[in-house]
Amino acid sequence: MIKDTWKNQGFVDEAISETTDIKKEIRRMCEEKNALIMAHYYTYGEVQDIADFVGDSLALAQKAAQTDAEMIVMCGVHFMGETCKILCPEKKVLVPDLNATCSLAESCPADKFADFVNAHPDHTVISYVNTTAATKAVTDVVVTSGNARQIVESLPQDEKIIFGPDKNLGNYINSITGRNMLLWDGACHVHEKFSLEKILELKKEHPEAKVLVHPECKGPLVKVADKVGSTAALLKYSIESDATEFIVATESGILHKMQEAAPEKTFIPAPPDDSTCACNECNYMKLITLKKLYNCLKYEWPTVEVDAEVAKKAVRPIKRMLEISEKLGI
Ligand code: 13P
Ligand code: SF4
Repeated sequence: MIKDTWKNQGFVDEAISETTDIKKEIRRMCEEKNALIMAHYYTYGEVQDIADFVGDSLALAQKAAQTDAEMIVMCGVHFMGETCKILCPEKKVLVPDLNATCSLAESCPADKFADFVNAHPDHTVISYVNTTAATKAVTDVVVTSGNARQIVESLPQDEKIIFGPDKNLGNYINSITGRNMLLWDGACHVHEKFSLEKILELKKEHPEAKVLVHPECKGPLVKVADKVGSTAALLKYSIESDATEFIVATESGILHKMQEAAPEKTFIPAPPDDSTCACNECNYMKLITLKKLYNCLKYEWPTVEVDAEVAKKAVRPIKRMLEISEKLGI
């Protein structure tokens, strides 16, 4: 077994013999170990294809809360693994590379966020799921891009609210709900990079194309969108819409499922402002490879661990989100 350094906490890809049928072995080990492989839409297509369940962050949390599998392998970023571990403390939860963090979660250190919360004691604290467990521990209710609007609207109109860490999602929710939530100054390095100018140029070349935008994008992009929503909502819209062309302003991994569900339609990934980099890819999600998934299942490593005290506090706002979502049928 070749593990990466302590710092990377993952496997180096070269560790597997070339004769191994990786896909077959992954599925075999999965059955043998009663493991559930979950994947986010931003992971590589081949990772999504081998998973038992693919979803947005809300669906992944909901699935984790319901599964009776003994082990969960989360092919996504670290906070998604943490959410699974917090909801299922008795299960072994694995993320094939713990280096798969999230720039948005990292833009909100728990101690600084706690200072912000303490400075506004009369506010309800809403945290986006893209946060560390420690940040969730100082939160009243967690939301995802799939339920943020409804959860905010479920609170009394005059409730004072802190919303963190994504200022773009927070601004968008403020604009559609008429609230004036106090926002943390965080953002995602992928969604902030999409170029409005290039999208408008694409729109001239494809005038019938619908523009699909994740709410982590900046306000001017959201304004030109035909549909704003979570990855699952954008996927659903692209399947149900009569349109045949779509410009997609979110991480490009989602195109895999869009193309699979509607092979006759054309999906154009929105370009980032710097055309020399693959900035519409999340470098953290792309750390999760098939080979690391294989090793992770085989050696049951690396596991996601959450401090018991932190987990005790973080589970409340996550469960509150799941309860409100269930009540609202989301
Ligand atoms: P979803 O909630 O749409 O899955 O988005 C998660 C995410 O990380 C977006 O960058
Ligand atoms: Fe985090 Fe952005 Fe990657 Fe989503 S795309 S996981 S918000 S870094």
